[in-house]
Amino acid sequence: MATLVDIYIMGKRYEVPEGLTILTAMEYCGYRMVRGCGCRAGFCGACATIYRTKEDPQLKFDLACQKVVEPDMYLTQVPFFPARKALYDLEESEASGDQLLRLYPDLVKCFGCNTCTKACPQDLEVMWYMSDALRGDIRETANKSFDCVMCGLCAARCPQGLVPYDVAIVCRRLYGRYLAKRSKHLDDRIEEINSGKFDEELDRIKKLGKEELQRRYENRDIEAAY
Ligand code: SF4
Ligand code: SF4
Ligand code: FES
Repeated sequence: MATLVDIYIMGKRYEVPEGLTILTAMEYCGYRMVRGCGCRAGFCGACATIYRTKEDPQLKFDLACQKVVEPDMYLTQVPFFPARKALYDLEESEASGDQLLRLYPDLVKCFGCNTCTKACPQDLEVMWYMSDALRGDIRETANKSFDCVMCGLCAARCPQGLVPYDVAIVCRRLYGRYLAKRSKHLDDRIEEINSGKFDEELDRIKKLGKEELQRRYENRDIEAAY
């Protein structure tokens, strides 16, 4: 029989089997996760969670679908993190520091406290990519923020009200559009798609049932990573 651990949700004690994630533990306790949950696999960032444990007053940060419950963990609801997102047309932008400052002039308010880094469940060097962004180093900001899942925890903690993940995604877009080396085989494949080369096959795939799609997905060829 599984060992049970105590957790507290909105102050109420529950006993849950050890090894469950925060998300599955909450469902085990009868909560239905309609919002604040998406991929359940650590990719979408929808399940950002703040918690603390009994003997430790410090707040801790993680993704509810990834973090396994600990004994005497205190959980509560976290409001969504609204953020002012700059509007821009990627085709009319330029990959420069000036462009970043036009979109996010508050970047200069970063005083290097590192609170954002400590909040990041992906263990990204958030403060350092913000500093790269301030210096106009779009390539490095994109590189350091590549694994960002847009959970919002860094923005929730920043004492200056900055939104690191929005700055980072602009950099990744600018990098992809203006700085990354063009990929000939990708350009060729897009041209083939646009010319209708795969239309018939795509129509066939659209008519397949879920099981056959899953079988094909699981048996697909995967390119070796170099
Ligand atoms: S950089 Fe911010 S939004 Fe991205 S994963 Fe880390 S805490 Fe979440
Ligand atoms: S929390 Fe805000 S002010 Fe502090 S380093 Fe991160 S972005 Fe800069
Ligand atoms: S539900 Fe998508 S990251 Fe947790």
